[in-house]
Order: sequence, then C-alpha cells, then structure tokens
Amino acid sequence: MSALPDLRGKVAVVTGGASGIGMGIARQLIAEGMQVVIGDIEAGLLRKAADDLGAVGILTDVSDLDSVRALARSATERFGTVHVVCNNAGVGPLAAIADLTMADWHWIIGVNLYGVIHGVQTFLPVLQANEDGGHIVNTASMAGLVAPPRLGAYSVTKFGVVALTEVLAAELAQTGSKVGVSVLCPGVVRTNIGTSSRNRPAHLAGGGLKDVDIAREDNPLYRWISPQEAGGAAVRAIKRGDLYARRLPAGYRGSPAYVRTARRILIPNGLHACFRERHPYSVR
Ligand SMILES: NC(=O)c1ccc[n+]([C@@H]2O[C@H](COP(=O)([O-])OP(=O)(O)OC[C@H]3O[C@@H](n4cnc5c(N)ncnc54)[C@H](O)[C@@H]3O)[C@@H](O)[C@H]2O)c1
Repeated sequence: MSALPDLRGKVAVVTGGASGIGMGIARQLIAEGMQVVIGDIEAGLLRKAADDLGAVGILTDVSDLDSVRALARSATERFGTVHVVCNNAGVGPLAAIADLTMADWHWIIGVNLYGVIHGVQTFLPVLQANEDGGHIVNTASMAGLVAPPRLGAYSVTKFGVVALTEVLAAELAQTGSKVGVSVLCPGVVRTNIGTSSRNRPAHLAGGGLKDVDIAREDNPLYRWISPQEAGGAAVRAIKRGDLYARRLPAGYRGSPAYVRTARRILIPNGLHACFRERHPYSVR
C-alpha cells in the first residue's frame, strides 16, 4: 500500500479532533510538521482544542454530508489541498439490542458509520488529485473485530468501518493509487467517550443507549492506552502504509485469549482469522 513517509508541510483534517483520540492524532500530526484542521460538533471544546494544539477548528457534524463537504472546502481554501484525512469522530454508548430504538440506530450509525463514509466520499477525490498522494485513517475499534454483548449497535458501525477500509485498501492497491488507507482499532483509551450522549441531537432523542464510563470497570482484560499513543499508532500507519494501525502494548501480558485474538486479527492480512476465532471482550 502507498505510504506517506514524510509528513512535513503537508495538510491533515481530523474529525472529532476536539477531544480524546482525535486530539491525540492531531497532536501527533502537528509534531510531524503538518498543518492540521480539526472538525468537531462541540463548539466550546473545538475552540479550546484548536487554541491548545495550534490547529484550525471548523464546526462540523460528520453525520451531515453537507457539513463534511463544507469542512473540505474550508480546509482546501485555506491550505490549497489536503493530504491526510482522519475520519475519527464517534460516539460510544451501550445497550442491549432489544432495548434500542430507531433513534438510537440512526444516531450511532449516522455518526460512526455515515461519518466515515462522508469523509471517504468527500476527501478521496481531493487526495487522489495530489501529485504526491495522500492517506486516510478511519477510526474503528477492537469492537470492529469482535462483537461483545451490549456493544451491538456500536459493533455494527465499527465492523462497517473495518469493512469499508479493507475494501478501499484493496481497490486503491489494485489501481496503483498513491492514496493509502488505514484502520485504527484501539481497545480502551482514556477519553471523553463515556459522556458521548452530550452530543446527541434533540431530533434523535429518546433511546436505550446509555453512556457507560468503562474507566470505572475494574476489568483485567482492559489495557488502557493514552490518546497520544493511539495518535502515534495512526501516524506510524500513515508513514509505513499499514492497513492496520496496530497498538498492541509492548510487554502486555493480559488474558491469553485476548492476546491470541488480538495477534491474529491485527495482522495486516485482514479479518480472516477473526472469523475462525472470535473471543468477545468480557463486558460486565
Ligand atoms: N475511547 C475508547 O476507548 C475508544 C476505543 C476504540 C475506539 N474509539 C473510537 O475513537 C473515536 C474517538 O472517540 P474518543 O474515545 O476520543 O471519544 P471523545 O468523546 O473523547 O471524542 C469524540 C469526539 O467526536 C466528537 N463528535 C461526536 N459526534 C460528532 C459529530 N456528529 N460530528 C463531529 N464530531 C462529533 C465529539 O465532540 C468529540 O470531540 C470514536 O470513533 C470512538 O468510537 C474509542
């Protein structure tokens, strides 16, 4: 796959860049010498993050195609083009499938899956028009590789992001494109995802999805990483042209089942092994 080994002076757009993993990715891209535009739905947080990072902040709702197109227009008008797009914005509340309403499905699919689709469809032509190519990073999750109870709606969106990325990677490689694509599949990262419902729109209110602060769960299977570490994994994948932005903790000695599964599913060959052996997280 195509890689972008030198990011200096290039331009990146990161959705959900006002918090958590998106902010971690933006910080790492800026450290590489990139100009970064962050798109986010939360105006106050966006202003503060843009100031802290030295990035440009553009109010964006990734579930709305017109809003993502406006983000692309703002970035290209300001910097001429875009080389790296990180489709990262997402929400993560949980519920059993039996407790979900259609409003729940529309909200979570709108942000987590359509958000990524909108980013790919909008920015891919921009990246392909660059002489030196570009790279897309889609944030999925380990829940895009394993499907545990209560993460049904979330896993549906994240499996979709993994599938979209795998197919796009194969198609770009087949056509000899200078654009590469990676998928980021973190386990647990210390972010504000436990309060995702703060960004739930009023017209999709009233559902079973509930915010869960997994940081309160004393689960030995969880191996926490920081947003910066997740951002570092994304940058490495862009520079090396890896399909999977792997972030297996060095020296991690967690559950053998988890490690075995993670090793198999995070190899860059794709998901084949995952279908043979699928160990759900223990979600309490
Ligand atoms: N935190 C984890 O443990 C974890 C693990 C795996 C994957 N992820 C994924 O990482 C991504 C980032 O989540 P995070 O953990 O950093 O959470 P976070 O809540 O800290 O950050 C998410 C950001 O997305 C923004 N956002 C929400 N809805 C939006 C919309 N419609 N349009 C634009 N921006 C919107 C929020 O305002 C926020 O700034 C998500 O896709 C999430 O599913 C998180």
